[in-house]
Amino acid sequence: MEIVIASNNKGKIEEIKNYLSDKNIIVFSLEDYPDFPGIIEDGKTYFENAFKKAHAVCQYTGKIAIADDSGLEIEALNKAPGVYSSRYAGPQAGASDNIKKVLEELKKLPQDISKKATFKCVISIVHPNGNSDVIKESCEGEMILKPRGNNGFGYDPIFFIPLLNCTMAELTLAKKNEISHRGKAMKRLKELLPKYIK
Ligand code: IMP
Repeated sequence: MEIVIASNNKGKIEEIKNYLSDKNIIVFSLEDYPDFPGIIEDGKTYFENAFKKAHAVCQYTGKIAIADDSGLEIEALNKAPGVYSSRYAGPQAGASDNIKKVLEELKKLPQDISKKATFKCVISIVHPNGNSDVIKESCEGEMILKPRGNNGFGYDPIFFIPLLNCTMAELTLAKKNEISHRGKAMKRLKELLPKYIK
């Protein structure tokens, strides 16, 4: 069985590949398709973007495609950055620019305001025969004002998980996949895979 991950995001690709590594699946990503023209992520929801990415990559490659659209929703910032998480600090922003912008916004608020936040993830799978599924998952945590940890990607260093007393960036890849929004969605995706195997 062959699957293409409809992403260029190295962090996402690593996590999804790790999740599928015990299955007899050859996993590709957009890094294997350098001529793919790219997708404009102009959806207003994670679902719209995830489905658009999976559908376009399935058509382009002729293989089963899975796409993840995800984001960080901070309660005190009215659920920002949300669907715009990857470009919160601007179209060319990297993870450190986005973290800086979140911290700037949080520091403008009263110190005792709730720092509750949720990572959201929507995974879409599309088969060339037209079959498709969508899975939504989330992971609860709190924002901290001083980044901690070197693992993971994106906002992981400022996303604190009270139950584990550490940030997402202090977890190993395996542990992150056990508890994260993406890990939980991938677990459910794996249960659906038999119906995509001829
Ligand atoms: P997308 O490619 O539009 O889905 O962008 C998702 C963005 O949300 C990423 O670029 C990160 O900024 C953020 N994000 C999603 N999942 C995670 C995660 O597991 N850790 C940290 N940041 C994440």
